[in-house]
Amino acid sequence: MPDKAFAESAERNSGPILEVLRSEFAQCRNVLEIGSGTGQHAVRFASTLEYLQWQTSDLAENHESIEAWIADSGLTNIASPLSLDVRTATLPEHCYDGIYSSNTAHIMSFAAVEDMFSIVGRALCDGGAFCLYGPVRQHGEFNTASNAEFDRTLRARDPESGIRDLEDLDELGSRHGLARTHFYAMPANNHIAVWRMG
Ligand SMILES: C[S@@+](CC[C@H](N)C(=O)[O-])C[C@H]1O[C@@H](n2cnc3c(N)ncnc32)[C@H](O)[C@@H]1O
Repeated sequence: MPDKAFAESAERNSGPILEVLRSEFAQCRNVLEIGSGTGQHAVRFASTLEYLQWQTSDLAENHESIEAWIADSGLTNIASPLSLDVRTATLPEHCYDGIYSSNTAHIMSFAAVEDMFSIVGRALCDGGAFCLYGPVRQHGEFNTASNAEFDRTLRARDPESGIRDLEDLDELGSRHGLARTHFYAMPANNHIAVWRMG
């Protein structure tokens, strides 16, 4: 049996995120997760929101852990990870009614975030929701000193990464037919932004 990686943060934030997804994905059936990481979120959300078919995805290096979490869960409504690098991926058009991604936009370069919105714009059905969890800036301001410090740490490690401006994400969304409908404040100075197609 391959090893299950474990992220303490995914354990902590999954409860509050689940409550938002319960409402935002209430009408959904097929959800794509971009950057599933360890696989913890997929298992937690698919085990509670049993009516969803949850498609995991990530870079190949994370597949072993995602597969292990899925196998251990015994759930039949989670699919093995797609090899999905947003910089190169192509997906069938309009095949998901929900897309979820957590803590990815500040890890990728901004060019990759642009690619992610392009993929979402192609893959999401009319009326479908894209829920993006993580820290963001608004009007050029960090919401806390700790997020400003986090941004400095990210950029020192990788100058192309960094906390994104909500207004820039909205602009990317509008280029691909997505309009923001909700913006939830979450614990630990994070947010979930929700854009809908059409
Ligand atoms: C900080 S981790 C977050 C993992 C998980 N979503 C969570 O919240 O615990 C960032 C994730 O983004 C993924 N990622 C980074 N660059 C990516 C890319 N170009 N395409 C797809 N996923 C990418 C990483 O492999 C990793 O799983």
